[in-house]
Amino acid sequence: ETVEWEAASYDMGGHDTYMHKEISEQPDAVDRVLRGRIDDRFSTVHLGGLNLDPREARTIRRIKILGCGTSYHAGLIGASLIEGMARIPADAEPASEFRYRNPVVDPDTLYIAVSQSGETYDVLAAVQELKRKGARVLGVVNVVGSAIAREADGGVYVHAGPEVCVVSTKCFTNTVVAFALLALHLGRIRDLSVTDGKRIIEGLRKLPAQIEEILKSEDEIKQIAAEYAGAQSMMFIGRVRGYPVALEASLKLKEISYIHAEAYPASELKHGPLALIEPALPTVAIVPDDDLLEKNRAALEEIKARSGRILAVAHQPQAKADHTIVVPKNEDELDPILMGIPLQLFAYHTALAMGRDIDKPRNLAKSVTVE
Ligand code: G6P
Repeated sequence: ETVEWEAASYDMGGHDTYMHKEISEQPDAVDRVLRGRIDDRFSTVHLGGLNLDPREARTIRRIKILGCGTSYHAGLIGASLIEGMARIPADAEPASEFRYRNPVVDPDTLYIAVSQSGETYDVLAAVQELKRKGARVLGVVNVVGSAIAREADGGVYVHAGPEVCVVSTKCFTNTVVAFALLALHLGRIRDLSVTDGKRIIEGLRKLPAQIEEILKSEDEIKQIAAEYAGAQSMMFIGRVRGYPVALEASLKLKEISYIHAEAYPASELKHGPLALIEPALPTVAIVPDDDLLEKNRAALEEIKARSGRILAVAHQPQAKADHTIVVPKNEDELDPILMGIPLQLFAYHTALAMGRDIDKPRNLAKSVTVE
């Protein structure tokens, strides 16, 4: 199961930066991660390299996902997809934290290492330590044949194609889609119904066209970004599924624009960060049309009451927000995949307006292969 990367992929293909090229490639990239894997007959997916038979899959009691940076954030969304669809307790942790806290390694836990490059030292070292202790480790990796892919017992290739820009965009999206496939696969082995399996498959199939639609709002996002480009600091909030989206969007903004940004669960605002809210500290809020919509709207009201500026990413215009980027609705579980995409463009255009070196931000490397 390999995808050949043509030399042409390294060409900028008319884009000014690799980041812009890679953001634009997402409809095709998502198509690639889905290709050949969907099984309509049983409303599931086939993952050829997983190396986990159904009987083994049923004995898993817990899933622990490990990664760094953007891959850690993709793992957070992955954990919620797996817990939601397969009803296996799952969480994600930065790989280096995991290594140094001497974790209990449990034979009933499935470990999943996430990495674009497949070479990040902290992740590789965590995998090696886990394997030394007899754990089963899968990889969710982009680069075929990379060190982590080779060390793992099996896994899911992300098939995002080569990513050149230091900050990850298309690989993040594809990694989350790969996790949705894994969650659906595990779910259908366990208690996810045929009906829910079908519903998720239909949602997955809609993604490329919906991403295409989001990319069409680039001009509008660019104009919005110009208004926020002068900010010293920005707050990102989301709730449950929206929180990892907020974390990743805030990381993207700080990496390429150098604007200080932090992400909080919307519910935690009142426990501290509300003290920071004033006109000079804009908030980006993730506001999906799901069972938490009213709760999220209440958070917007609290921010507005303190004269905070708000940019919402939502499925419908938000009255309390100064700007709303409206994204197409998918299934609740898959909405985080779409909601992150306009915020990649937001970070991009904010950084561009500030004259930053987008593909090579200061002090950062594409992959960190040392401690
Ligand atoms: C570096 C990059 C990040 C990336 C992280 C993990 O810090 O600057 O963009 O998310 O490594 O990389 P990986 O290749 O393991 O996904």
